[in-house]
Amino acid sequence: MTRTEQSPTAAGSGASATQAFRASQPQGTAESTSPERVSAVVKALLDGVHEAIRTEQVTYTEFQAAKQWLIEVGEGGEWPLLLDVFVEHAVEDVASRTQRGSKGSILGPYYLPDQAKLPAEATLPMRPDEKGTPLVFAGQVRDAAGRPVSGAELDLWHADDEGYYSGFAPHLPEGNLRGVVTADEQGRFEVITIQPAPYQIPTDGPTGKLLEAAGWHPWRPAHLHLIVRAPEHRPITTQLYFEGGQWLDSDVAGATKPELVLNPQPHGDGWLRSEYDFVLEPEN
Ligand code: DHB
Ligand code: FE
Repeated sequence: MTRTEQSPTAAGSGASATQAFRASQPQGTAESTSPERVSAVVKALLDGVHEAIRTEQVTYTEFQAAKQWLIEVGEGGEWPLLLDVFVEHAVEDVASRTQRGSKGSILGPYYLPDQAKLPAEATLPMRPDEKGTPLVFAGQVRDAAGRPVSGAELDLWHADDEGYYSGFAPHLPEGNLRGVVTADEQGRFEVITIQPAPYQIPTDGPTGKLLEAAGWHPWRPAHLHLIVRAPEHRPITTQLYFEGGQWLDSDVAGATKPELVLNPQPHGDGWLRSEYDFVLEPEN
C-alpha cells in the first residue's frame, strides 16, 4: 500500500486521537488514585526500566537518543497511538481475567462515541463508491444463561479498504463505516459493510521511526472493532479478525485471540457473510 497526498499523517491521526481520548475521560481519574497505588505501580514500572538498562547495558548515547525520541512522541501527539499499540493489550489481558462473557480485545485510539443509530438489519454509513468486498456480519447477543438480550447495542467501527478510519483521516466523510446497531427482540443483528484492509501504523512519526529502527513491521491484521452493551450487563470491547488474514500471527498491537477470528463464507455475487454470537455477563 502506498500513501497518497491525502493520506493521514501520524501527527494528524495522533492529534485527533488525543482529542478523542481527552473528550472520553471523566474528570478526576488521576486524583482518585491512592498514593499507595501510585507508588506501587510506578515503582514496579521504574524497576522494569532499570532492569532493562542493566541487562542491556544501555549507554549514555542510547539514553539520550531515547530521551529525544520520547520528546518527539509528545510533540507529535502520538501518545495515544503508541500506548494503544504497545501497552493496551496487557491492560486488556488483566481486565479479561474477571470476564466471563465473550472475549475482549483492545479499544485502540480510533473509537468515536455518538455515531449513527441503526436498526437490527442495517448497512453501515459508507460512500456510494465505497471500495472493498461487501460483507454481511450477522449474529445474536445472549446472556450468560443463553437467553437472547433484546435490544443490545453493537457499537461498530472499522477501517476502509485502504486501512483508514473516518474521523482520523481528513479525506473520509464523518461517520464513514461507523454505527450503533440495536439488536432485535431476539438479540439478533445483520449488518452490511465492507471487509476492512489491514491497518498500518503511520510510518512518518516517532512510533513509525521506532518500528523501523527496531526492524519491526508496522501492521495490524484487518479487524472490526465492537463495543457490545446492554442495560445491566457488563459491556464488551472487542475486535474481530479474518481467518487467513495477513499479519494475524504477528499483530504489532498484540491484540489478536484465536476466539476472535471470523471465518467468512462466500455469499452470493462476490459477497462474504460471517456469523458471530456474543455473550454478555451481568454487571458486577
Ligand atoms: C492502533 C490502531 C488501531 O486501529 C488499533 O485497532 C489499535 C491501535 C494504533 O495506531 O495505535
Ligand atoms: Fe483498529
